[in-house]
Amino acid sequence: MDALIRRPKTKILVDGGDPQETLRVKNLTGVVDGQTTNPTLISKNPEVRSEVSSGRKFTPREELDEYKKIVQAISPLVGDAGVSIEVFSDFNTTAEEMFAQGKEMFSWVSNAYVKYPCTHEGLRAAQMSVEQAIRVNITLCFSQKQAAAVYAATKQSKQPVYVSPFLGRLDDRGENGMDLVANIKKMFSAGDGHVLVLAASIRHLDHLLGAFALHAELATAPAKVWEEWAAKSFPLPGDDFAYQGHDKSGNLLRPIPYESLDLSQSWEIFDIRHELTTKGIQQFVADYKSTLKQSAKV
Ligand code: E4P
Repeated sequence: MDALIRRPKTKILVDGGDPQETLRVKNLTGVVDGQTTNPTLISKNPEVRSEVSSGRKFTPREELDEYKKIVQAISPLVGDAGVSIEVFSDFNTTAEEMFAQGKEMFSWVSNAYVKYPCTHEGLRAAQMSVEQAIRVNITLCFSQKQAAAVYAATKQSKQPVYVSPFLGRLDDRGENGMDLVANIKKMFSAGDGHVLVLAASIRHLDHLLGAFALHAELATAPAKVWEEWAAKSFPLPGDDFAYQGHDKSGNLLRPIPYESLDLSQSWEIFDIRHELTTKGIQQFVADYKSTLKQSAKV
């Protein structure tokens, strides 16, 4: 296998919850800049899965300890793009509760980023975090307005803030998720550069190349996508690369038009509601609860 000779400008992040996978990717590419995790990925960690399938269920504290153990095993394998650790939240979780979790998670490893959902409470928690120099990654982003709100809510941050547009989940419903990345990059080009675009929900090599071509600052992909990239000798998109998004039936994905938004407005002006953010939270809650004792209070 060839070594990684020409690095993309985009940072390389592994999307997963298994340190062994991170190590495998690192052995192939020579470098992994960071890692993203979420409640679904943690519930799929081999040790967590094997405990759950042999009948064990966790209390919320035990689940958190498992999460911490996984993050601490991953942290030394990755670089300064850090390990993104997601708070557990449902629709009743207040910003203060998310922030309390975030503070604890941030203390687990020196390269932590705390992931908050792109909701009103999530953004309030992000505001509290950046005031205390806690690095944040705002997840479940599906619209340009949400990204604008992330920008406006975290303006005081002295450190880079990540926003994670989920391309694959937009593709799944026929919209061209890559357009969202392009639109956010274009919108942020008029900004102060404090928010970095982390292309997420990457499902295949073309997504990866599209994110590289758009100069997304970071891209997170499952180990299997990085393995495919390595197997093909680490291709990078040429100047003529044109991303063509297709759905599973081969139809072209619907374009997402650019919106002219004023980044200097207060974040609360932006309509940040999105059906996929709601669905994403529901899924994370369900996957988190699947590892818990029935009687456990979340
Ligand atoms: C990363 O931060 C996201 O949680 C992840 O990329 C989601 O990917 P999925 O849409 O394939 O679940």
